[in-house]
Amino acid sequence: MSWFDCVELGPPIEVFQLTRQFTEDDFPQKVNLGVGAYRTDEGKPWVLPVVRTAEKALANDETLNKEYLPVLGLETFSAASSRMLLGADSAAIAENRAFGVQTLSGTGALRVGAEFLARHLDKTVFYFSKPTWENHRLVFLNAGFKEAREYRYWHPESRALDIEGLLEDLRNAPEGAVVILHACAHNPTGCDPSHEQWAQIADVVKQKRLFPFFDSAYQGFASGDLDKDAWAVRFFVERGFEIFCAQSYAKNFGLYNERTGNLTVVSSNLANVAAAKSQLTLTIRGMYSNPPSHGARIVAHVLNNKELFEQWRGNIKTMSSRIIEMRKRLREALEALGTPGSWNHITDQIGMFSYTGLNEAQSLHMVQKHHVYMLKSGRISMCGLTPTNVGYVAQSIHETLTT
Ligand code: LMR
Repeated sequence: MSWFDCVELGPPIEVFQLTRQFTEDDFPQKVNLGVGAYRTDEGKPWVLPVVRTAEKALANDETLNKEYLPVLGLETFSAASSRMLLGADSAAIAENRAFGVQTLSGTGALRVGAEFLARHLDKTVFYFSKPTWENHRLVFLNAGFKEAREYRYWHPESRALDIEGLLEDLRNAPEGAVVILHACAHNPTGCDPSHEQWAQIADVVKQKRLFPFFDSAYQGFASGDLDKDAWAVRFFVERGFEIFCAQSYAKNFGLYNERTGNLTVVSSNLANVAAAKSQLTLTIRGMYSNPPSHGARIVAHVLNNKELFEQWRGNIKTMSSRIIEMRKRLREALEALGTPGSWNHITDQIGMFSYTGLNEAQSLHMVQKHHVYMLKSGRISMCGLTPTNVGYVAQSIHETLTT
C-alpha cells in the first residue's frame, strides 16, 4: 500500500514526447519539425554569438556574485525588457505606470500574471485562441482560473484568420474576462491579425471590458524587426488599455534552458503600482522565492549596450532570414512535385511555425512512415528544415497526400 496508489498516469506532453521519440529513432533521414527551437543550416542548435560574447564578459566580471536577486528580479533586465517591448518613447514608462518583473521565461510570466489576476482581481474566466500554444490552458487553470474558453482564430478552409469568428466570440465573452493574445508570430498558425484587425479586436476588448494578457514569445521573429513585432502591444497601450505582457527570451536570444522572461505590467494609474508590485512580490515569494540570474544578466548586458544590441539584431536577422528561406524552398519543392492543394500559406505565414493544413491522420503518417516529426495539429517548426532535408520533407508530404 502506497500513498501514491491513487495517482493516475497523466497524458504525455506532445512536443517533448516527439523530441524523445526523435532522439531514439535511428532512421538516417529522420527530421524533427516538432519543438520550436532554432537550428542552423546543419540542423544544429545555435548559441547566439552575442550570447557567447556576453557570457565571456560576465565570466570575467569579478564584481558579480551568487547572492540572491531581489524577488522581482534584476532591475536592469526587467526595465530594459519593458522598454524593448513598449518602446523607448513609451508614455507609460515615462510616467512610471509600466514596470517589469523578471520571471521564469514566458511561461513563468504567464503563471505569475495569471495567479495575480485570479487572486487579486477575482478573475475566473480566460479566453485563448483556437488553436493556441498547448500550455496556455494548463498554466491558467493551475494558477487558479476556473473556466477555459476558446475564441475562434483559424479558418481551415481559407487557411487564414477567422476574424469574424474571433470578434463574435469575444463579443459574447462575459464582461471582465481575461483574453490571451499572441503579440506576434502566432503559435501554432504563423498568422497574425492585420493592423486594422487589431483595431477591431481592441474595440471589442474595450466594449466588453476584457483584460488583455499578451504573450510575446517571438519578438523579432515575425518580421525580423523588434519594433514592428511589438506593434500590437504598443497599440493597445497607446489606446489606454491596462495590460499584462509575458515576454520570453527563449527564442529571440536562444536562451531556452535559462528560463529568462519578463512580465510587463501597464497600469493606467501610477497610484496602483506600489500595491501591484508588493502583491507580485508575494506571489513570486510563495512560488519560487526569487529568480536565477544568469540569463537575465546576459540579456541585460546586451540590451543595455548599444554595440551588442546591434549585434543581437544581426543575430535575429540571421535566424529569421534562414526561416524565410526555408519557407520559400519548401513551397517551391511542393509546387515542383505538383503536391495537391495550394502552398502559398507556407510563405504567407510568419515566425517559427507553419500550420501546414495536414490533418491528424496525415501528420501521424508523416511521423510513422517518414520519420518526419511534427505535431498532430499539422504544425511544423520551420527551424527544423535545412537545405539538406527540405527535399525529403516535401517528398514525404507529397507521398502522404497522394496515397
Ligand atoms: C513550442 O511551442 O514548440 C515551444 O514553445 C516549446 C514548448 O514549450 O512547447
